[in-house]
Amino acid sequence: MTDFDWVPEGVDTTIPSVARAYDYMLGGAHNLAVDRAMATEAARLLPSTPRLVRMNRAYLRRVVTHLVESGIDQFLDIGSGIPTVGNVHEVAPDAKVVYVDKDPVAVAHSELLLFGNENATVVQGDLRDPDGLLSHPQVLRLLDFDRPVAVLMLMVLHFVPDADEPWQLVARYRDHLAPGSYLAVSHVTDDRQSAAWRGVARTAAQSRDSLNNRSHPEVLEFFEGFELEEPGLVGCGLWRPQGRGDISDNAEENTLIYAGLGRKPASGSR
Ligand SMILES: C[S@@+](CC[C@H](N)C(=O)[O-])C[C@H]1O[C@@H](n2cnc3c(N)ncnc32)[C@H](O)[C@@H]1O
Repeated sequence: MTDFDWVPEGVDTTIPSVARAYDYMLGGAHNLAVDRAMATEAARLLPSTPRLVRMNRAYLRRVVTHLVESGIDQFLDIGSGIPTVGNVHEVAPDAKVVYVDKDPVAVAHSELLLFGNENATVVQGDLRDPDGLLSHPQVLRLLDFDRPVAVLMLMVLHFVPDADEPWQLVARYRDHLAPGSYLAVSHVTDDRQSAAWRGVARTAAQSRDSLNNRSHPEVLEFFEGFELEEPGLVGCGLWRPQGRGDISDNAEENTLIYAGLGRKPASGSR
């Protein structure tokens, strides 16, 4: 038993989780003292950290809205996190949505949030197991891979170390997708060589997930086999901003997270 009725059995409440720390930064309630300490340390090192995560959520809203307008009605959101507000099924209420996260608290909370929702579900799973996820009964119940699907990997690939071959993993998902499918990625970078940001990245090591900054060419490589939509792979604040909150006045804040959207062309292999 844990002291918190929303924490599933078996979760070690003495180790911070990036999912719960992220929930704290977004103003959610599913976090523990260890998570808040990690998030507070990140914000001490770089005070704009909470704004960065909100800018990423704003990118999620814009990219999902754009995908719906492009005719997409199926989403696979991998590393979906602990949903507070602005989740895919809220932005795209008529679409079929499958959320995937490896964090048990994220999954338990999503199950509650999605209770009774016929169009959306959550699966506990790991991005590093594409074959298991793509054949999971809950995934196949809602998603038809003979038609275009949008795969979202927002702020998650940087938790997959190079040793686990994240580029090859993304290619496995790509090869499973029908032409006309999409891949959306947001990913942290140290291209600005910001000492404060490096400190933030180091705080993640307190959890079981270390954070791997990647360069622009390295993040671009995730889109191998996709055609990048305009404006390409850019700082997430610069990806089709529509108003205040999407973009920061501070150039560095706009470029600590890369964001992009790629479309699998008709000639793409399956
Ligand atoms: C920073 S949150 C991002 C949440 C959401 N995608 C967003 O951008 O707002 C990262 C999430 O990825 C999850 N995660 C990390 N590594 C993962 C993996 N290998 N497979 C599935 N989920 C993973 C964490 O548990 C966490 O909930």
